[in-house]
Amino acid sequence: MKKLRIMSVFGTRPEAIKMAPLVKELAAREEIESLCCVTAQHRQMLDSVMDVFSLKADCDLDIMTPRQTLSTITSKCLLGMDAAIEQLQPDMILVHGDTSTTFAGALSAFYHKIPVGHVEAGLRTNDKYSPFPEEMNRKLVTQIADLFFCPTENNRANLLREGIHDGLFVTGNTVIDALKTTVRSDYAFATDTLNELDYAHKKIVLVTCHRRENYGEPMKNIMLALRRIAQDNEDVELVYPVHMSPYVRDNAQEYLSGAPRVHLIEPLPANEMHNLMARTYLVMTDSGGLQEEAPALGKPVLVMRRETERPEAVAAGTVKLCGVAYDDIVRMSNELLRDEAAYAKMAHAVNPYGDGFACARIADAILWYFGRSDTRPADFHA
Ligand code: UD1
Ligand code: UDP
Repeated sequence: MKKLRIMSVFGTRPEAIKMAPLVKELAAREEIESLCCVTAQHRQMLDSVMDVFSLKADCDLDIMTPRQTLSTITSKCLLGMDAAIEQLQPDMILVHGDTSTTFAGALSAFYHKIPVGHVEAGLRTNDKYSPFPEEMNRKLVTQIADLFFCPTENNRANLLREGIHDGLFVTGNTVIDALKTTVRSDYAFATDTLNELDYAHKKIVLVTCHRRENYGEPMKNIMLALRRIAQDNEDVELVYPVHMSPYVRDNAQEYLSGAPRVHLIEPLPANEMHNLMARTYLVMTDSGGLQEEAPALGKPVLVMRRETERPEAVAAGTVKLCGVAYDDIVRMSNELLRDEAAYAKMAHAVNPYGDGFACARIADAILWYFGRSDTRPADFHA
């Protein structure tokens, strides 16, 4: 029988990290031809992930431009996707999450009447402008998709509330599958700064920050608060791999460069990042992915945003929203740095986002959808 041609489409760092184990799982199934189309919405940060996970693109749209706008990304992806679909002739297109690549990938599949599987479906803040533009991207992809791979039961409940009843699977998040392959207790860093840190005696605070809705005053507050925290706590080493967005880099440079105990470094390869996280004391971030990874590694997270579409780890007590006000960020991080009891309450491993078998469930669901298997995969339960 002819193999199913399943084309995974992704373009940014987080999509690539979360799709990498799925591309491989699909390739391991004899009924499936696993195809990989990258938009390269992120060029260097995508290539780094492709290297770490030894992935090869069957088609590369190479769309990135410096300081690209949302409209450029979406229109270049759409035009590129026409050619990719023509070339690779997929039976199904998989998109991940909530980026502009995700939206354009799904829209293009729809124009070509190709069924869409949405990986990481059902996350919601229900605030149209936060995260921006991601919340709208998710909602638009929901209207197009045929299969919905929800990381958690809560994500499925969001879709049911919106009247989506068919094609729902609770799979866990594929990021936990990826973490299983990268984190090692005997891992040796390739990055000098990371090798030279005093993990035994210092409190390593790992920071990332890049969201568009934080541009402007919130990002300035965040950066100045981080500077204060490093200045006031002599036992802290703040490690901040700075995102390649020029806007973010300008801010990090202006407010944090030269600050004591602050290490501004280049974006880390995913394996370096995951193993650094496994050795940190505290994570401070506005990233989505870090909110899922750190709880699995038993690391407390302060989320520098006003809301989160990932309430599961907040409920489990390992993630707290600290907002984007200078005073709140300083107060809440100082509490975790100075009050051992407060820290211990948050520092325990929980796995609300997956058990490491999300990709197997997704592959099983695809085979079931196409009638190549009689078994619908059982849902993931936290
Ligand atoms: C994008 C996603 C966001 C996701 C984030 C993950 C959209 C609209 N936003 O945001 O949902 O959380 O990726 O990191 O899809 N750049 C480089 N090299 C790279 C990557 C980026 O130079 O490898 C620079 C370019 O100047 C680019 C800019 O960063 O124009 C911004 O990239 P873009 O994809 O537009 O937005 P992000 O903020 O990265
Ligand atoms: N990440 C990485 N190197 C870094 C910073 C982040 O590999 O220097 C990883 C991180 O571990 C997570 C993903 O990138 O897996 C998160 O991506 P990002 O924060 O860019 O986007 P978001 O998750 O907010 O969409």
